[in-house]
Amino acid sequence: MSSSRETVLILDFGAQYTQLIARRCREEGVFSLIQPFDWPLAEIERLAPVGIILSGGPNSVYEDGAPLRWNDIAALGVPILGICYGLQVMTLKAGGVVKAAESREYGRARIRIESDSLLFKEIEPEQPVWMSHGDYASRPPDGWRVTARSDSDVIAAVENPSKSFYGVQFHPEVSHTPAGEQIIRNFLYEICRAGGGWSMRSYVDEAIASIHEKLGDGRIICALSGGVDSSVAAALVSKVAGDRLRCVFVDSGLLRKNEAAEVEAVYRPRLGDSLVIVNAAVEFYSALAGVTEPERKRKIIGAKFIEVFDREAHKYQEARFLVQGTIYPDVIESASSKGPAQVIKTHHNVGGLPERLGLELVEPLRELFKDEVRQLGRELGLPESMLMRHPFPGPGLAVRILGEVNAASVRMLQNADAIFIEELKASGWYDRASQSFAVLLPVKSVGVMGDGRTYEQVVALRSVDTRDFMTADFTPLPHDLLARVSSRITNEVRGINRVVYDITSKPPATVEWE
Ligand code: XMP
Repeated sequence: MSSSRETVLILDFGAQYTQLIARRCREEGVFSLIQPFDWPLAEIERLAPVGIILSGGPNSVYEDGAPLRWNDIAALGVPILGICYGLQVMTLKAGGVVKAAESREYGRARIRIESDSLLFKEIEPEQPVWMSHGDYASRPPDGWRVTARSDSDVIAAVENPSKSFYGVQFHPEVSHTPAGEQIIRNFLYEICRAGGGWSMRSYVDEAIASIHEKLGDGRIICALSGGVDSSVAAALVSKVAGDRLRCVFVDSGLLRKNEAAEVEAVYRPRLGDSLVIVNAAVEFYSALAGVTEPERKRKIIGAKFIEVFDREAHKYQEARFLVQGTIYPDVIESASSKGPAQVIKTHHNVGGLPERLGLELVEPLRELFKDEVRQLGRELGLPESMLMRHPFPGPGLAVRILGEVNAASVRMLQNADAIFIEELKASGWYDRASQSFAVLLPVKSVGVMGDGRTYEQVVALRSVDTRDFMTADFTPLPHDLLARVSSRITNEVRGINRVVYDITSKPPATVEWE
């Protein structure tokens, strides 16, 4: 991170919307960074942000141990915008009064802007907004004024313009607040006087320069998985490292149909001999022989992957660095250690590899959100089919073949899955769904084909809509689409005579079946 880059700092008090605030700032052309609310003052001074945003949060300012922060940041002379809980913190700490509400106000509300404010420049005086709060400010600190109220007469905005302190009780970062974009723009450009101009295009040059600085003339290894993050990370690093980069793609035999060939088609022209494809299917299948317990499968695959990768890496002794496609939500989640996403991510892939190989990590996507990674991939010329593909779990098809995994069951599932995905793409549903795939069940059922009785396996189709994969709903796929997929799978994939659609949400089910 270079301190010369114009940055807005977001101090996180634990709100579910904090990442959205960061996104909005970046969309408006100013780079943003999220840090915990108690991030050390010395670090903030080093960063020299053009403005600070205090996020919302689940606490009441009066709770024991409630996160509070004000005096030291207020003394910095930097504009501050408090959102929701952030407003309450600034109000309380600057000497105003915050009251506990009798009931929580949650959802749509209307506000009336009562006086001229830079924050509300070019905004109509009556506005729908999104509210989500228990406590509220009942009196602003001395020297501050109220600039907007809600229709239930709650203070909706306060400010001390001489110090560039602003607070809003509602959430400008969510789409249910239509004027939110303009409010954030006003904060950035009218109040913080930001120069703007941050974009993915400018980021590419910046990222290349900083990778260059880190690598020097060192050699670097990348574990290419075929997923969006590792693909974009590898493409970016290859711009700097050229033939000092070695990309290892382990074909575990547990990938989607034609996946290895697709990865090769995209990367061979870019990487030439720097791309190494290791066909380890036989090794993986034999390690998995006879294993049916899901957690054991995962452990065996994780260990096998490291073994195979390690073997390849040792052929490239001069390497000093390892590229990893860690993205910003992973960084934030692991920093605040909340949410199960971390457990999911560390399960497989390159976890534990850097220490084992004595390599230093290069994580060029650490600051980016998922769709920014996709944008970056576009800037680098990667094909849309690679950038928009659904996520795929590290242990691959092994957790979608219930029961024992072997070459025949993998082939059967790959074929069924490919038909499902092909039909989703053809009908336009692929881009609407978050993740879709087929699962091979270890049960046989009776069917009839022509005049004969069949006794074959069942495939379950799974498709989910989700924002963060912590919770998910099944995708409401149209019946005619499901009928077409079912008919094609039972006709074209030998060994399957029944197709069912999984209509369970998460929770109580998970996305994957194992
Ligand atoms: P679950 O099944 O936990 O899945 O609801 C949530 C998301 O995580 C993916 N997933 C994994 N990804 N290694 C990964 O890299 C894993 O071991 C793993 N298990 C689940 C899953 O595909 C879904 O997107």
